[in-house]
Amino acid sequence: MTQGMEGIVLAEKPLFLPIRPRVLHVAPEMAPLAKMGGLGDVVQALPKALRQTGVDCRVLLPAYPCVLGNIEKNQLPLTRLRSTVNVALRWRVYSAHVLRTVLDGVPVYLLEQPELFSNPSIYPMDLDEALALPFAFLSLAALELASSTRWHPQIYHVHDWPTSLLPAALRWHRHYRQMGLGVDTVLTLHNMAHHGILPEQSLEGLGFDPASFGVDGLEFYGQVNLLKGGLLASDAITTVSPRYSWEIQTLQGGMGLDGVLASCRGKIQGILNGLDYTVWSPETDPLLPAPYRVGDLSGKALCRKALLQACGWEENDRPLLVFVGRLVEQKGVDILLAAMEDLLSLGTRVLILGSGHPIYERALQEESRRYQDLLHVHAGYDETLAHLLYAGGDMLLMPSLFEPCGLSQLIALRYGTVPLVRAVGGLADTIIDVDGSPDGNGFLFSDYTPHELRRVVERALSHWRDREQWKIIVRHGMEQDFSWKHSAETYKALYLKLLGN
Ligand code: ADP
Ligand code: GLC
Repeated sequence: MTQGMEGIVLAEKPLFLPIRPRVLHVAPEMAPLAKMGGLGDVVQALPKALRQTGVDCRVLLPAYPCVLGNIEKNQLPLTRLRSTVNVALRWRVYSAHVLRTVLDGVPVYLLEQPELFSNPSIYPMDLDEALALPFAFLSLAALELASSTRWHPQIYHVHDWPTSLLPAALRWHRHYRQMGLGVDTVLTLHNMAHHGILPEQSLEGLGFDPASFGVDGLEFYGQVNLLKGGLLASDAITTVSPRYSWEIQTLQGGMGLDGVLASCRGKIQGILNGLDYTVWSPETDPLLPAPYRVGDLSGKALCRKALLQACGWEENDRPLLVFVGRLVEQKGVDILLAAMEDLLSLGTRVLILGSGHPIYERALQEESRRYQDLLHVHAGYDETLAHLLYAGGDMLLMPSLFEPCGLSQLIALRYGTVPLVRAVGGLADTIIDVDGSPDGNGFLFSDYTPHELRRVVERALSHWRDREQWKIIVRHGMEQDFSWKHSAETYKALYLKLLGN
């Protein structure tokens, strides 16, 4: 109690109550329930980190069969809310039951709509009006969710094109635009390569005003571009690394949307992704045959042995170069294939884990038949094997054509596997070249050519031969902190700014 000016006793209460923004993340992936790549990792880790900063953050996800399977496998609680959410799309009403689970303290709402959410690979190869329906439903159902949950988000945080329709709907949808005034939206760009392109006539079935089909709206070269609509309509745009925030404003990096992004410059912010060290730590990783830590790498040697055994290879001193990633153009598979013979001739062994384009899968398999003792390719998605590659490898190859952030290099750093990466996007923001700084944690190259890839491997090998120096490089990487703590605070500050605080 304190004495007020006129002698009135005032209760010692803070003048302002702490603000706890209510934020709903809407996405088609969230590891370990549904994961196709790094987006799944981010939607798992960021809401959790945000809750630790005091944000009331929740997630909305489709109840894909894999999601329900993983909930059961992980023995998570599951309840069904009483009312359904209903969304009118293409002249009929789609309904979904809302399920609720909790993952690492984060409330997760799941839309149970088997008719729309049955695709095991989540994203269709090519998009058309019918295949876009699940994403349209997810985006619009998010705006209906509060009627079921009685929890009203102040901010909708959406990710990439699949949920870009949400901010667009708050601006141009015949029904939902009325809601637009009371709420804010954040769109995070993980990857500009996919826009969500639909024919013009699909707009009407989605419930959009025809006036939204213009240069200042969803129109893009005579078609509907969902990502463009999301960019223009959202209140804030974030990219998953600072460097990617300006790369996308260039002709080369903007993938056709550089002009739109330049016009949005004032609301774009680059916030580096983090890594969830409760999932990715060699000290505690249950998927590794042996744990290890900075001061004692004996467990890493055992992981290496187990990895070589899994490939049917003898143990020897040849440096082991690993690649974990989607086999798509973005990941630099073209130059990796073209440089393969050279890389192996330098005395290395290469181990690849990836799934993606059948052309790349076939080409890599063919190469592995040519170099059976030196190149092993595992085509497919395998979480356990991925952990073993990060732990058992000596160096990680990431020769990406472009890379909005990249999580693989951050995982490799923590696992003492030195990254060799192309200096783009988040790779350039996180890797410091050993030849340029005493604090170096990896090796960088610039030109997207097989020759430059070979040269960076040569440079790394010249350091590898000096084992004492190599240990220092490994230590630098393992000791770095790329956790979510700082980035989550930055997101929170953005939310508070949007809410006017
Ligand atoms: P992107 O999101 O572009 O695919 P990131 O580096 O951000 O790239 O994240 C990729 C994530 O997916 C990492 O967690 C990586 O370990 C994982 N991953 C990629 N391919 C595979 C695979 N074939 N098997 C297991 N995990 C994979
Ligand atoms: C995307 C990007 C990758 C990024 C991930 C998570 O898939 O390709 O660079 O790390 O999203 O943000």
